[in-house]
Amino acid sequence: MKAYTSVTAIAHPNIALVKYWGKRDEHLILPMADSLSMTLNIFPTTTTVHLTPGRTTDRVLIDGTPADDEAHRRITEFLDLIRSRTGRRDRAQVETSNTVPVGAGLASSAAGFAALALAAATAYEADLDATALSRLARRGSGSACRSIFGGFVQWHAGQPDHPDPDRGSYAEQLNDIHLDLALIAVLLATGRKPVSSREAMNRTVTTSPLFTDWLATTRDDVPAMHAALKDADLARVGFIAERNAMGMHATMESATPPVIYRTPASHQLLEHVRAMRRRGEQTWATMDAGPNVKVLCPPAAAPRIAAELAAVSGRPTAIARPGPAAALTSESC
Ligand code: PMV
Repeated sequence: MKAYTSVTAIAHPNIALVKYWGKRDEHLILPMADSLSMTLNIFPTTTTVHLTPGRTTDRVLIDGTPADDEAHRRITEFLDLIRSRTGRRDRAQVETSNTVPVGAGLASSAAGFAALALAAATAYEADLDATALSRLARRGSGSACRSIFGGFVQWHAGQPDHPDPDRGSYAEQLNDIHLDLALIAVLLATGRKPVSSREAMNRTVTTSPLFTDWLATTRDDVPAMHAALKDADLARVGFIAERNAMGMHATMESATPPVIYRTPASHQLLEHVRAMRRRGEQTWATMDAGPNVKVLCPPAAAPRIAAELAAVSGRPTAIARPGPAAALTSESC
């Protein structure tokens, strides 16, 4: 058995074009419907897992600072899951560095748990293929399962009557897509979101009168989005993505008490994206569990559109393209 193994992995965030919102199992993190995303080529997270035999607790550093109690608990539970499967007991030191603010709806948890899953599974010698890694990453943060893969990715919810529900729910790269898409992130706010996505999702499922209808539309949106991507039909991709994201926000805003991530600045930018479209630009918006707006557009137009969005919002923008799968960057004994 190797001692003092240190493993580093890198993973990128992904942004869903058809969203995951609503769990059917809180413990296993099983979603109510499939979702479909693009892994980005910007904002990576790098995580090192260093096994520390002899220690009695895990140590977690996020961007050089000891993790708060909640983050520490989530990461320790995640490592416990791997330890229980591998029969290993060693505690670990986890060091994560992000290139994007955490908890602002910029998918840092997706990149974070994908990098952690790969680094920790390798350090504990769990011997998992990419599909199994995606199942494992899902247990840290649902959307993280999609960041195991690059490009365009579908997360299969799995059948409710599957004999082993954990096995039934995993991500898969879609290899039949040739659409060249750009995504502009407008960093309207980088503070922590007021309500965690876990809590917001739960509240939406249990109290929003709109949720059932949005879920039914989402189940149709996944195959429709896949077909539009395959046809390289940007207008259909944009239309479905924007409608799906705005619908998701409507479900949370109609929860009790409401979950409101969209700020006046978000609404102003959403309106601007629609106004650009009216004058012939190919721009469509999507948003996640936070106030930031992401804009889909053709890559050739992205620098010009990003400059306009930066001028209108007075905030920085970043242009992303489809990015790579999670990968190991170093292993040492
Ligand atoms: O994986 P979580 O628990 O952070 O949930 C992410 C949910 C959304 O980002 C809003 C949608 C998605 O599919 O990524």
